[in-house]
Amino acid sequence: MLVLGIESSCDETGVALYDTDAGLVAHHLHTQMAMHAEYGGVVPELASRDHIRRVVPLTEACLAEAGKSLTDLDAIAYTEGPGLGGALLVGASYANALAFGLGIPVISVHHLEGHLLSPLLAEPHPAFPFVALLVSGGHTQLMAVRGVGDYEVLGETLDDAAGEAFDKTAKLLGLPYPGGPLLSKLAEQGDPNRFTLPRPMLKSDNLEMSFSGLKTAVLTLVKQVQAESGELDDATRNDICRAFQEAIVDVLVQKSLKALKLTGMKQLVVAGGVGANKQLRAALDAAAAKRGFAVFYPPLALCTDNGAMIAYAGAQRLKFAREAGGFGVKPRWDLA
Ligand code: KG4
Ligand code: ZN
Repeated sequence: MLVLGIESSCDETGVALYDTDAGLVAHHLHTQMAMHAEYGGVVPELASRDHIRRVVPLTEACLAEAGKSLTDLDAIAYTEGPGLGGALLVGASYANALAFGLGIPVISVHHLEGHLLSPLLAEPHPAFPFVALLVSGGHTQLMAVRGVGDYEVLGETLDDAAGEAFDKTAKLLGLPYPGGPLLSKLAEQGDPNRFTLPRPMLKSDNLEMSFSGLKTAVLTLVKQVQAESGELDDATRNDICRAFQEAIVDVLVQKSLKALKLTGMKQLVVAGGVGANKQLRAALDAAAAKRGFAVFYPPLALCTDNGAMIAYAGAQRLKFAREAGGFGVKPRWDLA
């Protein structure tokens, strides 16, 4: 079966074709990052308009790459939520209209389910069950994944998501949007031993996390450095980036270890934009080697928002006969 996947929940238009026999056969993406950069964040109205401009050409590019035509499609999957209402409506309208015209099923997909299942697009990939660390700009959760549609939230952030903490901290350090990946690059050049920032809720028994205090701690540190030596020089800024990244990675690793212990599971899957973070990957790999569990990541290109994960999740839902409930979007929507 050939499934077209459409992602339009935020600032990336992602379209992909997933074949249940041949795997991912085409995958195209347009990121609006440059368009939103001058506003310092995503402008919802501009995002919706750009999705409208991109979705048809991206679909055509996927079909051309795979040597297929619209009539070869067996189903269309789209992100129903959570995300920006207007942006989601673009994908929802296009998917529903196209599926109606072709007389094929349409499958609505939860954006986070897309992220959760995306590591299954890689080789080698885990078999169920596994613990998933979902770390994106909007969510930070540890989940027990026992099968398609069988998800249990083990713990989550009580305030900011990890990616949000990266982005907000980058902004207060004067880094241009989108700050998270840039902060992480600068952190690589920073000294891990110069500053130490708090690890919120590290010692708590549960799997809950909190990252908003970390951002405030960075602000306090910046003010302290400025009071002592005036302007923040590049080396000091890099050292602060490093201290921030050390703290956030430490919390994510320790909480993931706790989740594995609690569930008795031996596989950890990392998904979502922050899963692209090199230091997080290195720390999890080291912990896995030491403690004898396996850790899986989606390919880097599939860590951030994309159509492939939606096509894949849609194909899995189709396999288990879980179709969409009808045309609509859910800007706010809990996965479990
Ligand atoms: O999953 P995603 O593309 O979109 C959401 O669904 O939120 O994640 C985007 C988030 C942003 O907050 C971005 O700053 C963060 O992932 N991110 C990173 C890195 N690459 C992306 N954070 C830390 N290190 C990175 N290398
Ligand atoms: Zn996402």
